[in-house]
Amino acid sequence: MKKISDIDIKDKKVIVRCDYNVPIKDGKILDDTRIVKSLKTINYILEKASKLIILSHLGRIKVEEDKKNNSLKPVCDHLSNLLNRKVVFCTYEDDINTAIDNNDIIMLENTRFFDLDNNKESNCDEELSKYFASFGDVFINDAFGVAHRKAASNVGITKYIESTNGFLIEEEVNNLDKLLDNPKKPYILIMGGKKVSDKIKVIDNLIEKCDKILIGGAMVYTFLKASNLNIGSSFYEEEYLDYSKNLLDKYNDKIVLISDNYVLSNGKHICKNIDDMLDSDVGLDIGDNSIERFKEEILKAKTVFVNGPMGLFEEGFSLGTEEVLKALNKIDAYVVIGGGDTVNAVNKLLPNNSFVLSTGGGASLEYLEGKGLPGVVEG
Ligand code: 3PG
Repeated sequence: MKKISDIDIKDKKVIVRCDYNVPIKDGKILDDTRIVKSLKTINYILEKASKLIILSHLGRIKVEEDKKNNSLKPVCDHLSNLLNRKVVFCTYEDDINTAIDNNDIIMLENTRFFDLDNNKESNCDEELSKYFASFGDVFINDAFGVAHRKAASNVGITKYIESTNGFLIEEEVNNLDKLLDNPKKPYILIMGGKKVSDKIKVIDNLIEKCDKILIGGAMVYTFLKASNLNIGSSFYEEEYLDYSKNLLDKYNDKIVLISDNYVLSNGKHICKNIDDMLDSDVGLDIGDNSIERFKEEILKAKTVFVNGPMGLFEEGFSLGTEEVLKALNKIDAYVVIGGGDTVNAVNKLLPNNSFVLSTGGGASLEYLEGKGLPGVVEG
């Protein structure tokens, strides 16, 4: 992997690609983690380079209407406040070259605005890649969150201009590598969230390396049903029952499922054993005994990867997720939290933590699936 120190940026016009795909409501940034995480690279560039030109996408642009809610202008203003410096915002109708000549820091409008024209950004269009490259002398890719996508502004551009990775990409890849190469043992995976189907490839790639895999969230019901237990009316994926059954047969000693759960039963939120589930019960969170069982494994762990909440935390069923996170925060271990929902849960439930929070949702997962990332510039 190429590093930022591998290229000379002194007095150069540096283009940086960030992932500023952050939640924004009514022009207000709801979570600026990704912007804050980009500051190390931004400040490094500002110390040495003559100009900084910032590229990012925001949201998905399918129809003209999508442009309204996906302008990077609020991000530009927010970054300007964080840096305490003027960041000039340019749309693609502006004279961008003149703006670069007259200012130090320029942020271009959402690169995905070009998706309205034959998906040019997302399909890594050559002309668009050249156009982005034309604004600078060198390119630094620091957009880890989108490193699993091959777009004009993160991958195509590298064909036309000297390129390297920023600090964030380097840090994220190094953090995830510790889960793939010789992890300290015991190594546990804690998987949750709604669907087994979203996690299959990660599970398949990590299960041989790990010692235990604790399964909660709605996805556990597919495993419980595959074990012929009554899951009431809980969500499960019919088409993944066979997969779950095979995994349970093969890795019976590694997989820890829940034995009880909080359910909505006749209008009440109560904890009950899986064996006592009524046909109308809907599982919403892992139960008290399961929390204790998970804690037993957590206390022994030296490496942990968490992906997916234990319950429907966004609707208030957060006990399981909170208790698991609290237990993880107490142990002396390397704990990585991956996936957008899980990182949100951590920020909400346990903002003061000692975890490694990955800024890449899909990118982290694809990397842990064992796939390379096209958005990482190779050395
Ligand atoms: C993300 O938030 O996961 C990245 O910014 C990628 O966004 P995308 O899924 O719209 O490509």
